[in-house]
Amino acid sequence: MKKEVVLMNDKPHALVIGGTGMLERVCHWLVEQNYFVSVINRNREKFERMRKKNSMPDSFHPLTVDYHDGDQLQGKVAEAVTHFGLPDLVVSWIHSSAPDALPLILEPFKDRQEPWKLIHVQGSSSFFVKENTPVPETCAYRRVYLGFVVEENGSRWLTHDEIANGVIKVIQRDYKETVVGTLKPWSKRPQ
Ligand SMILES: NC(=O)c1ccc[n+]([C@@H]2O[C@H](COP(=O)([O-])OP(=O)(O)OC[C@H]3O[C@@H](n4cnc5c(N)ncnc54)[C@H](OP(=O)(O)O)[C@@H]3O)[C@@H](O)[C@H]2O)c1
Repeated sequence: MKKEVVLMNDKPHALVIGGTGMLERVCHWLVEQNYFVSVINRNREKFERMRKKNSMPDSFHPLTVDYHDGDQLQGKVAEAVTHFGLPDLVVSWIHSSAPDALPLILEPFKDRQEPWKLIHVQGSSSFFVKENTPVPETCAYRRVYLGFVVEENGSRWLTHDEIANGVIKVIQRDYKETVVGTLKPWSKRPQ
């Protein structure tokens, strides 16, 4: 007989990969929007510092794991899904050194019937590769490229606030593909 699972969360569930770095403000904003936020990261102390900054610390759940370790990653995601339900929103910032991480994280979504959204944050150089990210039919796929800022005397990479604000805008306005900052001219990117 199938066991009935009682979810420990009645809010919409967001999963943020890399949520204690440049996406930290996105995590706080999601909590303000009434999401329960699961955060994939490695450094538990950094996560606890982030959690303590929020007036609703119980709205965060850490999935502390190195996303290069496929088995552990799948285990942590499965645990979060069991306790808090399949996420309605996934915000993903994963280094290119872990190409298998996102497909493994998305594996449990293949059976999801309700619509859900993936905000896929990628670095500047991914813009020129335009890789195909396979997602289930129920997924609204949104892509965010991180660009740079051209200034009078050169150029610089985006600040955390600029990145977070860009991602929040994509969620609010539901843009399909966005560049935060600029990628042009490519020759002017910071070295
Ligand atoms: N314009 C661009 O194209 C571009 C692209 C990339 C980065 N940048 C800039 O470069 C800066 C540094 O980038 P960053 O990637 O260090 O960003 P970050 O967002 O500040 O930190 C990475 C995030 O991912 C988590 N993480 C990293 N490796 C992980 C792993 N193996 N397993 C699980 N979680 C992991 C980290 O958690 P832990 O700390 O707990 O590991 C942290 O939450 C950024 O602040 C950004 O401004 C710009």
